[in-house]
Amino acid sequence: MTLEGPEGSGKSTQAQRLTARLAAAGYLCAVTREPGGTRLGEEIRQILLHGMSPVPAADALLFNAARAQLAAEVIEPALARGEVVICDRFSDSTLAYQGYGAGQALDALREMARFAVGGLVPDMTVLIDLPIEEGLGRKFNGPDITRFESNEDVAFHRRVRTGFLALAAAEPDRFLVIDGRQPPDAIEAEIAEALLSRIGQRDRLLLGEAERGAHRSGTASSEPERASLRMNK
Ligand code: TYD
Repeated sequence: MTLEGPEGSGKSTQAQRLTARLAAAGYLCAVTREPGGTRLGEEIRQILLHGMSPVPAADALLFNAARAQLAAEVIEPALARGEVVICDRFSDSTLAYQGYGAGQALDALREMARFAVGGLVPDMTVLIDLPIEEGLGRKFNGPDITRFESNEDVAFHRRVRTGFLALAAAEPDRFLVIDGRQPPDAIEAEIAEALLSRIGQRDRLLLGEAERGAHRSGTASSEPERASLRMNK
């Protein structure tokens, strides 16, 4: 699953809380953040957020370069091990920031993401939505100020928020939109319920398939492995 949202929406806190919840429920988890999460990705993060101001095309390519590395080095192997992968930002962020925010063509950005991560699409995306002023207010009080907070104006961040909401409206089955003004406990409970229910559905589906397979081949039904894929190829 992926967590998305405008600045200061509390995604990173929720990523940590969800990991703890899932671990307590017996699931193995991997958590990632973007840009970053690999050696190359962390170098690119420095360039992107604290070093330079790349031209728009270079910006989009660099975010996707970091993402390609993260998908190959971390996400795909974790999925293959059957872990639940929780990504703090993924491809939708590029559409929202570089697309809706900075005005780059959405089609080109989608094509770029396909090139970077193939058909890796989250099976669930939580958008923690929040009024821009509120999110930026939280961030300006924090230590991790990036060029998106220092260089971009409120209008840019409004377009990003609108973009996220448009992406969510276009894919209601994948997206869960949550009101980020709620207390963290309430947000966590809402996401956890939705996520565990999705995992449960997938488990039952796999269980059914395993049983049908065992039935067809005439072998005894063994305990099926827990649902593995949390992102769809
Ligand atoms: P970060 O400090 O990690 O912020 P957050 O906690 O909000 O995720 O900085 C990431 C910044 O990079 C954030 O301003 C959003 C931006 N970003 C893009 O513009 N495009 C992208 O594809 C991604 C992944 C992030």
